[in-house]
Amino acid sequence: MAVGIFDSGLGGLTVLGAVTPRLPETPFVYLGDNAHTPYGVRDADDIFALTCTGVERLWLEGCDLVILACNTASAAALRRMQESWVPEGKRVLGVFVPLIEALTERQWGDNSPPREVAVKHVALFATPATVSSRAFQRELAFRAIGVDVEAQPCAGVVDAIEQGDMQLAEALVHSHVEALLRRMPRPEAAVLGCTHYPLVEDAFREALGPNVAVYSQPDLVAASLDDYLNRRPEMVGPGRDSLFLTTGEPVNVSRKATQFLRRQISFRPA
Ligand code: DGL
Repeated sequence: MAVGIFDSGLGGLTVLGAVTPRLPETPFVYLGDNAHTPYGVRDADDIFALTCTGVERLWLEGCDLVILACNTASAAALRRMQESWVPEGKRVLGVFVPLIEALTERQWGDNSPPREVAVKHVALFATPATVSSRAFQRELAFRAIGVDVEAQPCAGVVDAIEQGDMQLAEALVHSHVEALLRRMPRPEAAVLGCTHYPLVEDAFREALGPNVAVYSQPDLVAASLDDYLNRRPEMVGPGRDSLFLTTGEPVNVSRKATQFLRRQISFRPA
C-alpha cells in the first residue's frame, strides 16, 4: 500500500510531514538523494538521470505512485519522464500543479481556458534550475492571464539547509528577497517554489513583510494527494512498510531529519 516520496535531499520531508497526518493509513517510502544534492545547480539531463534512478528505486519498494517532492525535478525532468519513460501501471506526479491551482483558485481537472485571476504580481523563489526551466510560468500560462512573475534563483539556500547551517540559509533568504523586491517592489503573492524553503519559511515571511501572501507547498500537495488517492485508490502500490532511504550518509541524514521533523527518523542506505 505504499506511496513513494522523492527529493534531492531533505526538502521532501516538509511534504512528508504534511501528507503523513492527512493519510495516516498510507505507508510512505521516502528517498532522499543526499549524495547528489543540490539538484538546483545541475543541468536538465543530469536531473533527469538522477530522478529516474531514484524513482526506479522506489518502484522496487512497491511504490507504483511516486511524488516528486522536488520542484527542481518536477520542473526539469517530470514532463520528459511522463512522455517517454514512465511505464504502464506506474505514475509519477510533481508538486507544481497543486501550487498553481491554489494561486489561480482552480479546482483539480478544471481545464477551462486561462482567465484573469486576483493576483497580478507574483514573486517566485526557487532553485536556479527551476527558475531557468520557466516551468512555473508555463504551467501558470495554461490557467491564468495577466500575471506578472518575477523569479529569484536562490543560490546557496538548499546547500546551507543540507549542511544544517540554518543561520546562513536565513541570511541568504533575506538577501534573495531584497534582490527580488528591488525588481518587483510590491508583489501580492510569493511562491516558495522549493520544498526545502518551508524549513526557512519564517525568514521568507519576515523579509517579505505582512502584505505578501506566502504560498508554501506541503499542505497544498498533501490535500492534492489525498484527493488523487480518493479518485485513484488503485495507485497505492503493494509496499506495506514506511521507510526512509538515502543515497547519502544515513547517520548524518537521520540526525538532520530528526531535527526538521521533530521526531525520531532513521534512514537506511538506498
Ligand atoms: N527540494 C528541491 C526543490 O524543491 C531542492 C532542489 C535542489 O536539490 O537544489 O527544488
